[in-house]
Amino acid sequence: MEYKKIIITQRGGKEKLKLIKEPKENLYKNLNKKEAIIKILASGVAYADIMMREGTYPGHPPYPFTPGYDIIGIIEEISENKENIKKGDIVAALTVTGGYSEYIVLPIEKLIPIPNVDLNNQMELAKLVSMVLNYITAYQMLFRIKKLNQEDYILIHGGGGGVGTALLQLTHHYDFKNVFTTISRRKSEIISKYNAKPIYYQEESFVDYCKKHKIKMDLILDPIGGWHFLESYKVLNRNGTLVLYGTYNFLKEGTIKSMLGVPLTYLRNLFDFNKKVIFYLIGQKRFGGYESIKNDYKILLELFKNKKIDPLVEILPFSEKNVQEAHQRLQNGEVLGKIVLIFDH
Ligand SMILES: NC(=O)c1ccc[n+]([C@@H]2O[C@H](COP(=O)([O-])OP(=O)(O)OC[C@H]3O[C@@H](n4cnc5c(N)ncnc54)[C@H](OP(=O)(O)O)[C@@H]3O)[C@@H](O)[C@H]2O)c1
Repeated sequence: MEYKKIIITQRGGKEKLKLIKEPKENLYKNLNKKEAIIKILASGVAYADIMMREGTYPGHPPYPFTPGYDIIGIIEEISENKENIKKGDIVAALTVTGGYSEYIVLPIEKLIPIPNVDLNNQMELAKLVSMVLNYITAYQMLFRIKKLNQEDYILIHGGGGGVGTALLQLTHHYDFKNVFTTISRRKSEIISKYNAKPIYYQEESFVDYCKKHKIKMDLILDPIGGWHFLESYKVLNRNGTLVLYGTYNFLKEGTIKSMLGVPLTYLRNLFDFNKKVIFYLIGQKRFGGYESIKNDYKILLELFKNKKIDPLVEILPFSEKNVQEAHQRLQNGEVLGKIVLIFDH
């Protein structure tokens, strides 16, 4: 028996994403103690996957490799049963790579059990997987970096994106009163639902907007990168925190300009002890490592089950053509929320 997976053959465009087949018995032969074989049900397509394909994601594995940052699936085989994890359970995991595949082998300690999943509800599967990378990132940047007050001014850059929509839903649910988001007009339909004030960045610079309205931000969440970080710093309040968490502009601005944005922003902050600049990366020890990922996913799951959050997703059946299309659309900024690959089961 064989199973299918996508590999990035070498650095380059979407055509470097190729479907290959591997013997399934290899999974069983190589299964180590403390590992499980997961049959994947849904796999998220992340901006980081595109950066890995383009060769701009620091520390990505050598080519060829299978991308895919987050998954949910069924445990098909497990080397040892744990109290709350056994064969047949549905689990989520942050994989970083390896998700665009019908099967993946993962350490048991990385598996997050999800009870009561309707396997025939593809939208539910997609929403559950989209809460792994995007919603945990959003949740941790709001609650694991600084203590916020309800009245604090919060600026969410890229409000129409995967993490951006998660941030909008969470700030709405937790009732933050002064939320602003930079967003393109084409994605503005979501704004009215979430109580955030839009700044149409393609029409007006957010720095001008803040000056005009005489506002400074207590928390800024910036995934855009490069010079954009320095622009964000300009509208940071005394005692404010600027969180740098992505380099979306890597592909547009080029590596050097994007890379320089981070040290220059830290430099800018060197003599201002009241303001903070922080780089957030999911899974880092200082934000609680993988234990906090498990913990925060459970919180998000509760919110989802109680209909307090509702991830925006588009689904595509797993195939080479669809994976290439998903990369193209995400790279063009056309996706509102997250694209998820759905597998046959
Ligand atoms: N540090 C971490 O742990 C972590 C975790 C998750 C993601 N990330 C990173 O965060 C970034 C965003 O990820 P994502 O999944 O949310 O990507 P995404 O879904 O592609 O969203 C990014 C959004 O930014 C918008 N945008 C582009 N240029 C902009 C600008 N100048 N100002 C404001 N908005 C702009 C785009 O929409 P429009 O073009 O329509 O405006 C797009 O909706 C990526 O670099 C990703 O790697 C980091």
